[in-house]
Amino acid sequence: MQRINVAIDGPSAAGKSTISDLLAKKLGYVHLDTGAMYRCVALKALQNGIALDDESALTAMLEQTDIRLTPDGKVYLDGTDVSEAIRKDNVSMAASDVSKLKQVRIDLVRRQQQMATAKGFIMDGRDIGTVVLKDAEVKIFMTATAHARALRRFAQNQEKGICTSDLETIEQEIQKRDDQDTHRANSPLRKADDAVEIDTSDMTIDQVVDTLYRTVLQKTEQEVS
Ligand code: DC
Repeated sequence: MQRINVAIDGPSAAGKSTISDLLAKKLGYVHLDTGAMYRCVALKALQNGIALDDESALTAMLEQTDIRLTPDGKVYLDGTDVSEAIRKDNVSMAASDVSKLKQVRIDLVRRQQQMATAKGFIMDGRDIGTVVLKDAEVKIFMTATAHARALRRFAQNQEKGICTSDLETIEQEIQKRDDQDTHRANSPLRKADDAVEIDTSDMTIDQVVDTLYRTVLQKTEQEVS
Protein backbone atom coordinates (compact mmCIF):
# COMPACT_ATOMS: atom_id res chain seq x y z
CA MET A 1 0.00 0.00 0.00
CA GLN A 2 1.18 3.50 -0.88
CA ARG A 3 2.35 5.36 2.25
CA ILE A 4 1.67 8.99 3.09
CA ASN A 5 2.44 11.38 5.96
CA VAL A 6 -0.17 12.50 8.46
CA ALA A 7 0.07 15.77 10.43
CA ILE A 8 -2.02 16.02 13.59
CA ASP A 9 -2.16 19.39 15.35
CA GLY A 10 -4.29 20.71 18.17
CA PRO A 11 -4.27 22.01 21.73
CA SER A 12 -2.94 20.17 24.80
CA ALA A 13 -4.65 16.99 25.86
CA ALA A 14 -6.98 16.84 22.84
CA GLY A 15 -6.00 13.17 22.45
CA LYS A 16 -3.43 13.67 19.69
CA SER A 17 -0.82 11.38 21.16
CA THR A 18 -3.10 8.48 22.12
CA ILE A 19 -4.91 8.63 18.78
CA SER A 20 -1.68 8.94 16.79
CA ASP A 21 -0.25 5.90 18.57
CA LEU A 22 -3.25 3.72 17.82
CA LEU A 23 -3.55 4.96 14.26
CA ALA A 24 0.15 4.28 13.65
CA LYS A 25 -0.24 0.70 14.91
CA LYS A 26 -3.30 0.13 12.70
CA LEU A 27 -1.53 1.46 9.62
CA GLY A 28 1.96 0.11 10.38
CA TYR A 29 3.25 3.71 10.45
CA VAL A 30 5.67 5.39 12.88
CA HIS A 31 4.30 7.91 15.38
CA LEU A 32 6.50 10.91 16.24
CA ASP A 33 5.29 12.90 19.26
CA THR A 34 6.94 16.30 18.83
CA GLY A 35 5.52 17.61 22.13
CA ALA A 36 7.78 15.06 23.85
CA MET A 37 10.79 16.87 22.37
CA TYR A 38 9.73 20.26 23.82
CA ARG A 39 9.11 18.46 27.11
CA CYS A 40 12.67 17.07 27.03
CA VAL A 41 14.09 20.58 26.56
CA ALA A 42 11.98 21.80 29.49
CA LEU A 43 12.98 18.88 31.74
CA LYS A 44 16.67 19.33 31.07
CA ALA A 45 16.43 23.10 31.67
CA LEU A 46 14.64 22.50 34.99
CA GLN A 47 17.21 19.88 36.03
CA ASN A 48 20.08 22.24 35.21
CA GLY A 49 18.59 25.43 36.65
CA ILE A 50 18.42 27.14 33.25
CA ALA A 51 15.80 29.89 33.08
CA LEU A 52 12.95 28.94 30.75
CA ASP A 53 13.23 32.25 28.88
CA ASP A 54 17.04 32.24 28.49
CA GLU A 55 17.11 31.60 24.76
CA SER A 56 20.89 31.61 24.33
CA ALA A 57 21.52 29.26 27.29
CA LEU A 58 18.81 26.91 26.02
CA THR A 59 20.24 27.00 22.50
CA ALA A 60 23.70 26.17 23.86
CA MET A 61 22.16 23.38 25.97
CA LEU A 62 20.48 21.95 22.87
CA GLU A 63 23.84 21.64 21.12
CA GLN A 64 24.76 19.11 23.82
CA THR A 65 21.40 17.37 23.90
CA ASP A 66 20.37 14.06 22.39
CA ILE A 67 16.63 13.34 22.12
CA ARG A 68 15.49 9.97 20.87
CA LEU A 69 11.93 8.82 20.24
CA THR A 70 11.65 5.05 19.79
CA PRO A 71 8.96 3.27 17.72
CA ASP A 72 7.53 1.74 20.93
CA GLY A 73 6.80 5.23 22.30
CA LYS A 74 9.71 5.64 24.69
CA VAL A 75 11.53 8.97 25.01
CA TYR A 76 15.26 9.10 25.75
CA LEU A 77 17.00 12.29 26.85
CA ASP A 78 20.79 11.97 26.67
CA GLY A 79 20.39 8.19 26.90
CA THR A 80 18.05 8.20 29.93
CA ASP A 81 14.45 7.02 29.67
CA VAL A 82 12.37 10.09 30.60
CA SER A 83 9.06 8.84 29.17
CA GLU A 84 7.28 9.36 32.50
CA ALA A 85 9.30 12.25 33.93
CA ILE A 86 8.34 14.50 31.00
CA ARG A 87 4.60 14.01 31.68
CA LYS A 88 4.61 15.74 35.09
CA ASP A 89 2.45 18.89 35.36
CA ASN A 90 5.40 21.24 36.04
CA VAL A 91 7.16 19.96 32.91
CA SER A 92 4.00 20.53 30.84
CA MET A 93 3.93 24.21 31.72
CA ALA A 94 7.69 24.56 31.28
CA ALA A 95 7.43 22.94 27.83
CA SER A 96 4.91 25.56 26.80
CA ASP A 97 7.36 28.25 28.01
CA VAL A 98 10.41 26.97 26.09
CA SER A 99 8.32 26.32 22.97
CA LYS A 100 7.79 30.09 22.60
CA LEU A 101 11.47 30.62 21.80
CA LYS A 102 12.42 30.97 18.16
CA GLN A 103 15.85 29.30 18.39
CA VAL A 104 14.46 26.32 20.31
CA ARG A 105 11.81 25.88 17.63
CA ILE A 106 14.34 26.16 14.79
CA ASP A 107 16.49 23.45 16.39
CA LEU A 108 13.61 21.03 17.09
CA VAL A 109 11.84 21.59 13.76
CA ARG A 110 15.12 20.72 11.98
CA ARG A 111 15.37 17.49 13.99
CA GLN A 112 11.72 16.63 13.27
CA GLN A 113 12.14 17.19 9.54
CA GLN A 114 15.25 14.98 9.54
CA MET A 115 13.31 12.20 11.29
CA ALA A 116 10.48 12.18 8.76
CA THR A 117 12.36 12.19 5.47
CA ALA A 118 10.38 9.25 4.08
CA LYS A 119 6.62 8.54 4.08
CA GLY A 120 4.70 6.54 6.68
CA PHE A 121 4.86 8.98 9.59
CA ILE A 122 2.17 10.30 11.86
CA MET A 123 3.53 13.40 13.52
CA ASP A 124 1.61 15.26 16.19
CA GLY A 125 2.19 18.71 17.65
CA ARG A 126 1.15 22.33 17.14
CA ASP A 127 2.90 23.37 13.92
CA ILE A 128 3.14 20.12 11.97
CA GLY A 129 0.65 20.99 9.22
CA THR A 130 1.74 24.63 9.07
CA VAL A 131 5.55 24.36 9.39
CA VAL A 132 7.18 20.94 9.93
CA LEU A 133 5.38 18.81 7.32
CA LYS A 134 3.66 21.38 5.15
CA ASP A 135 3.31 18.80 2.39
CA ALA A 136 1.69 16.09 4.56
CA GLU A 137 -1.04 14.40 2.52
CA VAL A 138 -3.47 14.33 5.46
CA LYS A 139 -3.72 17.18 7.97
CA ILE A 140 -5.94 16.95 11.02
CA PHE A 141 -6.73 19.68 13.54
CA MET A 142 -7.94 17.90 16.66
CA THR A 143 -9.85 19.85 19.30
CA ALA A 144 -12.00 19.23 22.40
CA THR A 145 -13.40 21.51 25.09
CA ALA A 146 -11.00 22.44 27.92
CA HIS A 147 -13.23 20.56 30.36
CA ALA A 148 -13.22 17.34 28.32
CA ARG A 149 -9.45 17.58 27.99
CA ALA A 150 -8.94 18.19 31.73
CA LEU A 151 -11.05 15.13 32.56
CA ARG A 152 -8.97 12.99 30.23
CA ARG A 153 -5.62 14.28 31.49
CA PHE A 154 -6.71 13.75 35.10
CA ALA A 155 -7.78 10.16 34.42
CA GLN A 156 -4.62 9.49 32.41
CA ASN A 157 -2.37 10.78 35.23
CA GLN A 158 -4.21 8.69 37.81
CA GLU A 159 -4.00 5.59 35.64
CA LYS A 160 -0.26 6.05 35.19
CA GLY A 161 0.22 6.75 38.90
CA ILE A 162 1.60 10.22 38.11
CA CYS A 163 1.22 12.61 41.05
CA THR A 164 -1.41 15.02 39.75
CA SER A 165 -3.16 18.32 40.57
CA ASP A 166 -6.92 18.41 41.12
CA LEU A 167 -9.29 18.61 38.14
CA GLU A 168 -9.95 22.34 38.44
CA THR A 169 -6.23 23.18 38.53
CA ILE A 170 -5.60 20.94 35.51
CA GLU A 171 -8.37 22.71 33.56
CA GLN A 172 -6.93 26.13 34.47
CA GLU A 173 -3.44 25.02 33.41
CA ILE A 174 -4.80 23.67 30.12
CA GLN A 175 -6.50 27.03 29.43
CA LYS A 176 -3.31 28.90 30.28
CA ARG A 177 -1.25 26.70 27.97
CA ASP A 178 -3.85 27.07 25.19
CA ASP A 179 -3.58 30.81 25.55
CA GLN A 180 0.24 30.73 25.44
CA ASP A 181 0.41 28.28 22.55
CA THR A 182 -2.16 30.20 20.48
CA HIS A 183 -0.87 33.71 21.08
CA ARG A 184 2.90 33.27 20.92
CA ALA A 185 4.80 35.10 18.18
CA ASN A 186 6.63 32.05 16.80
CA SER A 187 4.55 29.39 15.04
CA PRO A 188 1.41 29.83 17.14
CA LEU A 189 -1.04 26.96 17.23
CA ARG A 190 -3.42 27.38 14.31
CA LYS A 191 -5.32 25.17 11.93
CA ALA A 192 -3.62 24.79 8.54
CA ASP A 193 -5.90 25.99 5.73
CA ASP A 194 -6.01 22.48 4.27
CA ALA A 195 -6.54 20.66 7.61
CA VAL A 196 -9.71 18.81 8.57
CA GLU A 197 -11.01 19.80 12.01
CA ILE A 198 -12.25 17.05 14.35
CA ASP A 199 -13.84 17.89 17.71
CA THR A 200 -13.27 14.83 19.88
CA SER A 201 -15.20 16.07 22.98
CA ASP A 202 -18.03 13.59 22.49
CA MET A 203 -16.21 10.89 20.57
CA THR A 204 -14.66 7.71 21.91
CA ILE A 205 -11.03 6.95 21.11
CA ASP A 206 -12.13 4.16 18.76
CA GLN A 207 -14.45 6.50 16.85
CA VAL A 208 -11.66 9.03 16.31
CA VAL A 209 -9.15 6.35 15.26
CA ASP A 210 -11.70 4.87 12.82
CA THR A 211 -12.47 8.27 11.30
CA LEU A 212 -8.80 9.02 10.76
CA TYR A 213 -8.07 5.51 9.49
CA ARG A 214 -10.74 5.91 6.82
CA THR A 215 -9.44 9.37 5.90
CA VAL A 216 -5.91 8.00 5.44
CA LEU A 217 -7.10 5.01 3.38
CA GLN A 218 -9.17 7.28 1.13
CA LYS A 219 -6.17 9.53 0.59
CA THR A 220 -3.83 6.61 -0.14
CA GLU A 221 -6.27 5.31 -2.75
CA GLN A 222 -6.42 8.78 -4.35
CA GLU A 223 -2.61 8.92 -4.40
CA VAL A 224 -2.46 5.57 -6.26
CA SER A 225 -5.08 6.44 -8.89
O1 DC B 1 1.63 18.09 23.00
P1 DC B 1 2.27 18.39 24.36
O2 DC B 1 1.29 18.84 25.38
O3 DC B 1 3.10 17.23 24.84
O4 DC B 1 3.27 19.62 24.08
C1 DC B 1 4.01 20.23 25.11
C2 DC B 1 4.22 21.71 24.77
O5 DC B 1 5.08 21.82 23.65
C3 DC B 1 2.94 22.47 24.42
O6 DC B 1 2.61 23.42 25.41
C4 DC B 1 3.23 23.19 23.14
C5 DC B 1 4.60 22.77 22.72
N1 DC B 1 4.65 22.21 21.37
C6 DC B 1 4.88 23.07 20.34
O7 DC B 1 4.97 24.27 20.54
N2 DC B 1 5.04 22.57 19.07
C7 DC B 1 4.93 21.26 18.83
N3 DC B 1 5.09 20.80 17.59
C8 DC B 1 4.65 20.36 19.89
C9 DC B 1 4.50 20.87 21.16
